[in-house]
Amino acid sequence: MRKAIQNLEESKIRDVANAGLGRSDVLAFWFGESDEVTPDFIREAAIESLRKGETFYAHNLGLPELREEVARYASRLHGDVADDRIAITSGGVNALMLAVQMLVDAGDEVVAVTPVWPNLTAQPLIMGARLQRVSLTPSNGAWTLDLQRLLDAITPFTKLLIVNAPNNPTGWTLSRAEQLAILAHCRKTGTWILADEVYERLYYEKSENGCAPSFLDVAAPDDRLVVAHSFSKSFLMTGWRLGWLVMPPAMTHNMGKLIEFNTSCASVFTQRAAVVAMQRTDEVTPRIVAHLKTCRDTLVPLLQAVPGVELQGAKGGMYAFFKLGGFDDSLALAKRLVAEAGIGLAPGNAFAPEAQGWLRWCFASKDVARLEEGVRRLANWLGPH
Ligand SMILES: Cc1ncc(COP(=O)(O)O)c(C=O)c1O
Repeated sequence: MRKAIQNLEESKIRDVANAGLGRSDVLAFWFGESDEVTPDFIREAAIESLRKGETFYAHNLGLPELREEVARYASRLHGDVADDRIAITSGGVNALMLAVQMLVDAGDEVVAVTPVWPNLTAQPLIMGARLQRVSLTPSNGAWTLDLQRLLDAITPFTKLLIVNAPNNPTGWTLSRAEQLAILAHCRKTGTWILADEVYERLYYEKSENGCAPSFLDVAAPDDRLVVAHSFSKSFLMTGWRLGWLVMPPAMTHNMGKLIEFNTSCASVFTQRAAVVAMQRTDEVTPRIVAHLKTCRDTLVPLLQAVPGVELQGAKGGMYAFFKLGGFDDSLALAKRLVAEAGIGLAPGNAFAPEAQGWLRWCFASKDVARLEEGVRRLANWLGPH
């Protein structure tokens, strides 16, 4: 067995969730998904496809109709994106892995902005790359980027920069000025950018297109840029395992080959559902975002009022990331909260060593009262400690 695989860390989020297995009294906020089911009309499209007998392999790059819909969707948000730059993938995580397989050789230098969803840092390690983390800096419960430190870390030897914004878990978002500076720098060093923009629509600040700033807004089609997306978060489709990539047109043919050797294709009936999700996005996504904003605006002030909590409201994403004064070990704390308070949170050190002592709370809850009850439990548990 390869050492790189043996050395991969197991998921600390799973570790906490396993501690709560079979306990229906635990309020679970540990995973990054809503507890709301996929809208009916999207599910119906999949059922109809199966009824018609669409049970066969599809094109490596995805159904042409879906690639066209995705290109139209991306163009509406970011200006012209041609369908020959799109590949449909088996989830956002598969999109990211394919991009890393495409770009990273064993021994290559990869820079990642952290804290970040652990899959993003595991993938280059699987390829045998050398990973350099550039940490955001926490201050009063908010995480910010030291841009110069990031630019200094990216040299002509850096093959790939991995950046996820809006960020899971911190909610940090790249500004337009930072994107422009990073792009200009990476053009000079010849570094590829892998932008994980799966939370672009879950953005709570004012913007013209209802999206967080995207690298697609500022890059040319031929730039060394690959953007990873997912149907999971903006369409309530986590279990469907569908995502997509936007890449330079010259890469697409080779991406098709790589998909062949990974998954061959995404299933047709899920892609049929995704076509409908894209066509009717205005019936789905704005409602989800409005609800998530209500969730954030309910949870954040309640948590901020708990003594010892350090937290700022996230600009994007679906997480409250906070520090609880007096507790240094996130994993031990998260396990105690499951066992003793009946709340399931993700430990901060699952996302980076520098987030030790922090906790992630996914606020995508259909019923806002669950969030209120969660904070009540946390405050009660903290009371006598
Ligand atoms: C930052 C980030 N990228 C990508 C994904 C992948 O999502 P999926 O594989 O469900 O499409 C997630 C899921 O939590 C995420 O948080």
